[in-house]
Amino acid sequence: MNHVRLQVERLTKNYRTSPDSADILSNLDLSVPEGEFLCILGPSGCGKTTLVRCIAGLEDYEGTIRVDGNTVTGPGPDRMMVFQDYNQLFPWKTVLKNVQYPMKVNGIRDKQELRSRAEEKLKMVNLQEYADYYPHQLSGGMKQRVAIARGLVMNPGILLMDEPFAALDAMTRNKLQAELRRIKEEENLTVIFITHNIQESIVLGDRIIMMDKGGRIKLDERNTIPKPVSPDSEGYGAMWRLFEDALGDTGAEG
Ligand SMILES: Nc1ncnc2c1ncn2[C@@H]1O[C@H](COP(=O)(O)OP(=O)(O)OP(=O)(O)O)[C@@H](O)[C@H]1O
Ligand SMILES: [Mg+2]
Repeated sequence: MNHVRLQVERLTKNYRTSPDSADILSNLDLSVPEGEFLCILGPSGCGKTTLVRCIAGLEDYEGTIRVDGNTVTGPGPDRMMVFQDYNQLFPWKTVLKNVQYPMKVNGIRDKQELRSRAEEKLKMVNLQEYADYYPHQLSGGMKQRVAIARGLVMNPGILLMDEPFAALDAMTRNKLQAELRRIKEEENLTVIFITHNIQESIVLGDRIIMMDKGGRIKLDERNTIPKPVSPDSEGYGAMWRLFEDALGDTGAEG
């Protein structure tokens, strides 16, 4: 049995926008072992972003969230986040400086170390040639690669990804999915990856969870289809239908 990296117990989140506002998440339990690639599906507004923001330490919450046994009370270098938004990079910093930023925030001052660790991660996402570029000189896919390199530079226990490929064209998206799986294997990453896309969850996930409109976990399945997964893989169709049918029952519109 693998070491438990993330333990969420009875997580409840209410933004308390009004005295009678409903809980977004209510008594949610979730355990993620080290090295697991977990995909989370669910209809818009069900609380996926809320869940990862709580894990990232960006929201207060009721209940328990522990990473490697340590209670989450705020952001930390053990939990790095990659967002959907292309504008998550600092526009006035070069690619290299963007990737170095979390190290600087965490007190790393050694110039040699700053450079070598950032270059190593840029190489991992195939952007070593672009270290001196600025974000506006990059394509959307390249910006997301930089965000991944930045997310990995502290060697976090968990990489939290909130629809990072959702705004990319299909070809770029497929390419980045394959690269993320490769990096996951190389680094034995623990990843929590939010997506709207059932196909993406089957291609990437070792495990796939579907949440419903009430912020509950409705389905929690192991994905044992051998990687790399394609629509021709044995078991793909059955897995896709399982989640497609479940999505229809979650209260998703349309
Ligand atoms: N800062 C906030 N203040 C008040 N309510 C919020 C806040 N952030 C989110 N909510 C509410 O919490 C609910 C869940 O939002 P959340 O962004 O977590 O959903 P989601 O599953 O990520 O949706 P999507 O798939 O559209 O990204 C929504 O009803 C939303 O209006
Ligand atoms: Mg969201």
